[in-house]
Amino acid sequence: MTIPQSLAGAIARARSVAVLTGAGVSAESGVPTFRDAQTGLWAQFDPQKLATPDAFRRNPKLVWDWYAWRRKLVAKAEPNAGHRALAVLEGRVSDFALITQNVDGLHRRAGSRNVVELHGNIGRVKCSRENTIVEHWTEVGDEVPRCAGCGALLRPDVVWFEETLPPDALQAAEDAARRCQILLVVGTSAEVYPAAALPAYAKSAGATIVEINPNPTPLSDAADYVLRAPAGAVLPALVAAAWPV
Ligand code: OAD
Repeated sequence: MTIPQSLAGAIARARSVAVLTGAGVSAESGVPTFRDAQTGLWAQFDPQKLATPDAFRRNPKLVWDWYAWRRKLVAKAEPNAGHRALAVLEGRVSDFALITQNVDGLHRRAGSRNVVELHGNIGRVKCSRENTIVEHWTEVGDEVPRCAGCGALLRPDVVWFEETLPPDALQAAEDAARRCQILLVVGTSAEVYPAAALPAYAKSAGATIVEINPNPTPLSDAADYVLRAPAGAVLPALVAAAWPV
């Protein structure tokens, strides 16, 4: 993977770098993206239709089971070279923020520290009525587990379509986007708002926008650099080009 020299130099000099990641950064860890076809048992379901409050109201068991399947898959997955390169990058840049739409926790497992999780984390569940985080739960038979306090159903602590993002996380993401000199946009279809608005905030504040994605997105035309290859190849190459040994 050849990295443009001008980009490598800009990264090496930058005081402030932000990164926005999506499901594509975890694809090489074996975690399916949202807009790729699903396989096996779940092939008949559209993830975008499972990740809604309405789907949970209509069929809580189906939605709970889908997340339980993803939780297991994520627990077995390992961070890949792309996740690891972002953790290395954090150690080289004085002001660094990693904003992710992913709920899989793989960035932290790869060693990233300043991670802003916009869409929650699949490892946690919460009470669907009170929103309180529930650390331990047991599944009995075929039932969706219930909150020990109020008896309402438990649900994953992730943001669904039609729900608002955690305000603190969104604020931190917007601040990082407006402050950074370079924004890397990695493995996201750049279609889901408000995350998809972050590159425009960064660009209007003067940042250089770098898209890393094997496929075109609505952001591609506005990006200053487009690196059309998998994140697991591009990100290590980018770090190596910026700080050659
Ligand atoms: P998508 O599934 O929409 O998009 C994944 C993107 O990753 C696509 O643009 C692919 O081309 C790209 N991609 C695939 N393999 C890649 C690789 N190896 N390296 C780099 N890029 C690769 O996932 P997101 O953009 O994350 O929200 O989706 C955004 C949100 O929509 C998700 O957080 C989720 C979903 O519905 C909620 O659940 C609220």
